[in-house]
Amino acid sequence: MQPTTQRTHYCGTLSLDHVGQTVTLAGWVHRRRELGGLTFIDLRDRSGICQVLFNAEKHPDLHRAAKDVRSEYVVQVGGVVERRQAVNPNMATGAIEVVATDLQVLNTAKTPPFVIDDPPQASDDTRLKYRYLDLRRPRLQANLKLRHQAALTIRNYLAGQGFLELETPFLTKSTPEGARDYLVPSRVNPGMFYALPQSPQLFKQLFMIAGYDRYYQIVRCFRDEDLRADRQPEFTQVDIEMSFPTQETIFALIEPMIQQVFALADIDVRPPFPRMTYAEAMASYGSDKPDSRFEMKIADLSTIVENTEAALFKQAAAEGWVTRGFNVPGGANYSRKELQTIEEEARRLGAKGLIWIKRKEGAFQSPVQKQLSQEILAGMAARLGTAEGDCAFLQVGPPGDVSRILGALRLSIARRENLVPANAYGFLWVYDFPLVEWSPEENRWVACHHPFTSPHEDDLPLLETEPGKVRAKAYDLVLNGTEIGGGSIRIHRPEMQQAMFKALGFSEVEAGLRFGFFLDALEYGAPPHGGIALGFDRICMILAGESSIRDVIAFPKTTSALCLMTESPSPVDAKQLGELHIKLDR
Ligand code: AMO
Repeated sequence: MQPTTQRTHYCGTLSLDHVGQTVTLAGWVHRRRELGGLTFIDLRDRSGICQVLFNAEKHPDLHRAAKDVRSEYVVQVGGVVERRQAVNPNMATGAIEVVATDLQVLNTAKTPPFVIDDPPQASDDTRLKYRYLDLRRPRLQANLKLRHQAALTIRNYLAGQGFLELETPFLTKSTPEGARDYLVPSRVNPGMFYALPQSPQLFKQLFMIAGYDRYYQIVRCFRDEDLRADRQPEFTQVDIEMSFPTQETIFALIEPMIQQVFALADIDVRPPFPRMTYAEAMASYGSDKPDSRFEMKIADLSTIVENTEAALFKQAAAEGWVTRGFNVPGGANYSRKELQTIEEEARRLGAKGLIWIKRKEGAFQSPVQKQLSQEILAGMAARLGTAEGDCAFLQVGPPGDVSRILGALRLSIARRENLVPANAYGFLWVYDFPLVEWSPEENRWVACHHPFTSPHEDDLPLLETEPGKVRAKAYDLVLNGTEIGGGSIRIHRPEMQQAMFKALGFSEVEAGLRFGFFLDALEYGAPPHGGIALGFDRICMILAGESSIRDVIAFPKTTSALCLMTESPSPVDAKQLGELHIKLDR
């Protein structure tokens, strides 16, 4: 980096190589300490922190001036780099210090509402209100630098693969991705609204129809949905589309890119990533985004218990229910109270109860041990991999509920018991998602991915009769139990797209009103095409070792979608509302 005229070096770059050199630094006062006739200032800039020493004996005026500076003052310091007598091994520049010969206060600062240091001391809300101060923290600075490097790596990689970075509009028409839209009223078209894009889905498909062949964009998307640690109302996607691909083409494109991005954090990722069908993920992990860093796989035990006399299993056989379970290594030591806590958790998830089977001192202990023989218990243990000292947990009920409950329990027990290996990266492609799922709220079939996803040719005959059984050419990229990307091979024939809208309960008129422009475009020679969008914030979060995407977004919103710094959203005055032809009903 070329230093500006106000400095010769960045604080964090100084080392023993600079000893004897005269330098000028500029930055913020991180900390000031007094020690007899010596004043130490830790000076901070984007590159790091460096200790500056003011000596009362050698430079009394300078020392007096240094005593007046406060935390977060902006100063320029001139001095000579010297080897430190007491090396600080916890500091990157801990072997040297700058002995000051000059000090200019470039600006003063009010006492900040919290100490700017890692780990942060203040509440989340205070830090978000003063985000520009929180952003001074070295950890957040490192996160945002990593984010920049990840974006650069992705751009270079995709450009190298012949992808063009093309922009798409923000003021547009609603594209269904399953969330609510953010609407923007039009002043010049009274009563009309734009929607901010939930993704550029239709535009990227239009680029394929227009013959651009390979498109990408690192792009902001907007979704009005319930927020969590890995969801923000505006977030960034690495959005990709290409013509004439297969699912494998997309996987083979993404894997080396992910490898390069993770190398930025010294994480060694080895493609090809494991692949798993949706059906297998649901059966073995009770989730469509399995955390594959640890085993504890769910196994079906229905055939083992189908002929037992126990009332519960008889009922299960009559109702078409399933019996499934998973094993917890070392679980035989659970106390009665711990087992109770786990059962309560299962009940909160909707379970009617929870069966446990401990394998201890060569025998099986279980609340159902009277109803089930030791042979049957041994059969279950063999299928679940329950060894001496372990404990298995079982659920009996409808398949969907059993999967969901066991999947959630598997995760929470593994996290609580520290059974998830640290520094492991479980990448997984999940594919063959169902095309549609039944929405009781909307009383119709809704697209699992989005309505532009192609069904499997083999399942087409089921589209009208049993749409729930049709598999889609849709895939997700999962990392450590987080969905970091999703995409599909698209429908490229207009009649197929019409059939899909019909299956989703849209009349031809409705489909025409919402997506007429797109249906028209499909009539003009749409090539087979497909793509993916990666959740850039989620990738950066995992790359930076953070647990919330807020820590890799410069100006994030709270879980209530508020920006505490700018205090938005906010009321607007009557004149502005009038211009937009909007009347509030309160
Ligand atoms: P999808 O809806 O799966 O697909 O989104 C792609 C990826 O974006 C990330 N993501 C989010 N990240 C942060 N906050 C959110 N609110 C949020 N919502 C989604 C996830 C997700 O995997 N148009 C399709 C892509 C395609 O078919 O090519 C789409 O948007 O990591």
